Amino acid sequence: MSIANNPSILSCPVCNTSLQKSQKSYNCENGHNFDIAKQGYINLLNSNKKSSFDPGDNKNMVDARRNFLEQGFYKPISDLLNTTFLSNLPHFTNPLQIAEIGSGEGYYINGLRDCHAGNYYGIDISKHAAKTASTKYNNITFVVANAVELPFLDNSVNVLTSLFSPFYEESAKKVLTKNGIIIQAVPLSNHLLELRQVLYKEVNINSTPKNVLTQYFKLVDTKILNHSLKLPDQTTIQNIFSMTPHYWKTSPEQIRELSSLQQLDVTLEIEFRIYINAD
Ligand SMILES: C[S@@+](CC[C@H](N)C(=O)[O-])C[C@H]1O[C@@H](n2cnc3c(N)ncnc32)[C@H](O)[C@@H]1O
Ligand SMILES: [Zn+2]
Repeated sequence: MSIANNPSILSCPVCNTSLQKSQKSYNCENGHNFDIAKQGYINLLNSNKKSSFDPGDNKNMVDARRNFLEQGFYKPISDLLNTTFLSNLPHFTNPLQIAEIGSGEGYYINGLRDCHAGNYYGIDISKHAAKTASTKYNNITFVVANAVELPFLDNSVNVLTSLFSPFYEESAKKVLTKNGIIIQAVPLSNHLLELRQVLYKEVNINSTPKNVLTQYFKLVDTKILNHSLKLPDQTTIQNIFSMTPHYWKTSPEQIRELSSLQQLDVTLEIEFRIYINAD
């Protein structure tokens, strides 16, 4: 299902014209060049716009995510993403352009690529994520870039996906085609509740769904995934912890109790939201 010969829809972060692939780099018509790293990803993050020297998930988090996901614990999430994706495609003509925003180590975008032909892109602000993703999945173009300023030509992306990642409506609006779709996965209040109960004295279980995108897009469908998952050992418990925002928020005391557990049953509760760029 490789699409290596199709023109790229990437845009130059300096002058916003089309970026096309040559042997070892991507180049625009105004002579701006971006090297392809030896693992295969490209870095389009404008270094003078970085808010941190090493933004996004760090190497520990990316490695934990890779270890956890490759054991199939989150396959039900990937399966629901794939069926949602396939059932929303009929109105597009080929070649299909698909991008995941905050693609991490590449597990979900690779699942999509396995079910339909197209040009696949994974965007992440973390170079560790892009490096790890491109090492394993070489038929997907992984790009280090900020979701605030997606590195695509205007009106060029048919399907944008976002799982547990920051999403910026204005940037998505600019790059989506008319009738393009967004598939967004967000955690609901019971998601990983048992993990949070170990970490925190008080756990917020406010059940109001948050962050519905309303500014530019029409919500056309939602699907809820409810699933119980057995984490069978301490390594898996540490991996799932390191994949979540709790990794940034918890103190050594809070982690101590988690470190003593040998297994934990956790609830997955995730809402998939499908939007269309209708106007
Ligand atoms: C919770 S992880 C989810 C990764 C992947 N979707 C998954 O579920 O395996 C969030 C990802 O978003 C990335 N990220 C955070 N802020 C970002 C931004 N402003 N632009 C692009 N990616 C961002 C992080 O580096 C991280 O890889
Ligand atoms: Zn340029």
